[in-house]
Amino acid sequence: MFARELPELPFHVWPDIDDPQKVRYLAAWQPPENLSEVFPNLEVLFSVGAGVDQLNIATIPQSIRIVRMMEPGLAEGMMEYVLWAVLSYHRKMFHYAQQQGQHVWQGGANISARAFRVGVMGMGALGTPVLEKLAQFGYACNGWSRSRHNILGIKSYAGPEELDAFLASTDILICLMPLTDATRGILNRELFAKLPKGSCLINCGRGGHLVQDDLLWAFDNGQLSQAVLDVTDPEPLPKEHPFWDHPSIILTPHVASSSRVESGGEMILKNITQYERGFEMTGEISRSLGY
Ligand code: GLV
Repeated sequence: MFARELPELPFHVWPDIDDPQKVRYLAAWQPPENLSEVFPNLEVLFSVGAGVDQLNIATIPQSIRIVRMMEPGLAEGMMEYVLWAVLSYHRKMFHYAQQQGQHVWQGGANISARAFRVGVMGMGALGTPVLEKLAQFGYACNGWSRSRHNILGIKSYAGPEELDAFLASTDILICLMPLTDATRGILNRELFAKLPKGSCLINCGRGGHLVQDDLLWAFDNGQLSQAVLDVTDPEPLPKEHPFWDHPSIILTPHVASSSRVESGGEMILKNITQYERGFEMTGEISRSLGY
């Protein structure tokens, strides 16, 4: 793709990098710690994932611009995964799968999607398209984020002062926030206690958002009835971890979404072109916010 679109820009795949002095752009998940020693002339670091929490941003020289992956393929995968999880919970598919294991044939009522209030934490490149997709399916959709967003059909709650009201009107809580110092451990006992009793949690953010013991507490107290976790800390969990066998937890191995080669590559190409022309890059992070 690079050879076709930007033939004047030599492209190398690690570890065959030719002269490291000549490297101006790097696309990586976890680059070497001593980045500026390995690549003294690096200008832009592209994360190949949606997150930048895997980077130790403080050690990356200020002169290096950092860009997270914002590409349509990632959003599409996330819409599919969250829709699957919400529909499965709403249509009791996790319950029916357990029933099948016990050879039980017992149906429940047909409940409208409108009866479920879905709340998405994080209204960014992933949270917004996910909310729009869920609204198409008839769910009552709310979003919570740092600042207010005007999206047709979605109620937007903003900032810490509106978090309690958001939680009180959420039956299915979806975490799609970046992991930063401000959001680490945010899915905790105090937050679960503010949800209506028997709610469902879907975590597609990072394992570090969740306080694991508090999730077990929430099940023991009937505060939550179901969790779908695509991310854990660590990944994978140790074999003896209680989440593996918990009847109310569905675990998937960090597969909700990932960058797609074609559309992700196109995004990096487009950003390099923008950068070289002196324009803004899509997904450049703010170092102070950490995303
Ligand atoms: C996956 O978790 C990503 O950050 O793209």
